[in-house]
Amino acid sequence: MRTQVGIVGAGPAGLTLAHLLHLQGIDSVVIEARSRAYIESRVRAGVLEAPSVALLHEIGVGERLGREGLGHEGTILRFSRRSHRIDFTALTGSMITVYGQQEVVKDLVAARVSSGRPLFFEVEDVSLIDVDGDRPRINFVHEDQEQTVECDFIAGCDGFHGISRGAVPAGLLAIFERVLPYAWLGILARTHPSTTELIYANHEDGFALHSMRTPEITRQYLQVEPGTDLADWPDDRIWAELSKRLADDEGFHLEEGEIFDKGITPMRCFVAEPMQYGALFLVGDAAHIVPATGAKGMNLAIADASTLAHALGGHYLGATDEPLRAYTRTCLGRVWRVQHFSSWMTSMMHRAPDQDDFDRRLQLSQLDYVTSSTAAATSLAENYVGMPFPTPWAWTR
Ligand code: FAD
Ligand code: DHB
Repeated sequence: MRTQVGIVGAGPAGLTLAHLLHLQGIDSVVIEARSRAYIESRVRAGVLEAPSVALLHEIGVGERLGREGLGHEGTILRFSRRSHRIDFTALTGSMITVYGQQEVVKDLVAARVSSGRPLFFEVEDVSLIDVDGDRPRINFVHEDQEQTVECDFIAGCDGFHGISRGAVPAGLLAIFERVLPYAWLGILARTHPSTTELIYANHEDGFALHSMRTPEITRQYLQVEPGTDLADWPDDRIWAELSKRLADDEGFHLEEGEIFDKGITPMRCFVAEPMQYGALFLVGDAAHIVPATGAKGMNLAIADASTLAHALGGHYLGATDEPLRAYTRTCLGRVWRVQHFSSWMTSMMHRAPDQDDFDRRLQLSQLDYVTSSTAAATSLAENYVGMPFPTPWAWTR
């Protein structure tokens, strides 16, 4: 097979990139290790920034998002048993949308399938060959057949545990990493949300987050220790801990219901620089991981994909190669901003294992400041709703 862009991985990054290339008339082949059913049901993030929502609408995959997504004009920070609202719309003119990552994936897979361009599921033994040479290609096995895709460019969109980052010689990548002393226990429960907006709760026993997916399903998280065994967290214990950490003195009542999904996610910061080596471009989690507080992972993946699609559009339309050369620089500006924001939100909301009274006073002072100063609240809101990123439309408008 021969294509212009070989895309490894059909997560938010790979699928967004594939569709943006398609809309510009650029050919691609997408290969994915898992089955379609698996990627369409994998429970992960659920908050879309305003620029991500705008892009998904513009590329024609926003119909169900517009119908089923829950637009939120603010969020609640809860600490010392009181709630404080950050009003995104008043502070920034923008808002976020709650819509599960697997729903975004379903919409993008449907768009890919209807484009008629290739998308292979359940591929095995994927390897990248000659990525800095004359004949970059991807080898893989599909339905017991060995396949080779010859490409001009390869987009490594295969997540943190994929193989693409490993195709860059080790000495050429600078790795910035911080493993945090926290993990999140996440649940999906069949119950009405207990509020209309997300609640980020700072509690002396640890962070809790009340989120949602639909008017009938909540998504909630508890800070737990890394290495926590789910078997130690029967449903009753989860509800008791959520009720305690989310409690306030203003009459909040947590609705309980059947828990039908549970998982534990470690928290880490990770950035690999540069995000390009020869014909290989790393996109999304393949290049970086941010701590979950602030819900940025999927949005960063979409922003990288849009930046690369813009750059490849400039290249294939013969306009300019400058955005391609600037890919790492353009992406890393946003990556480090988000890395800082997510780390800051995490340190403000979590209880560190070695937290002393001094740290606690600093944390409460920061929370007081961010919920009482318009300048500080605006900074949080601006980062939360998301800043603009390059889109391919520059070449067509
Ligand atoms: P991915 O979504 O990981 O997609 C990569 C794809 O590549 C996968 O489909 C994978 O199967 C495929 N793949 C891997 N290896 C190969 C290979 N060799 N060949 C072909 N295909 C391959 N973010 C938040 O903001 N909030 C959250 O609550 C949150 N929860 C999360 C929970 C978990 C368990 C995880 C892992 C992540 C979570 N994230 C969360 C982060 C967010 O989901 C990611 O940032 C986002 O999925 C990144 O998209 P991506 O396309 O870069 O990578
Ligand atoms: C969700 C995840 C987050 O990391 C976050 O900060 C807010 C909401 C969610 O899955 O709903």
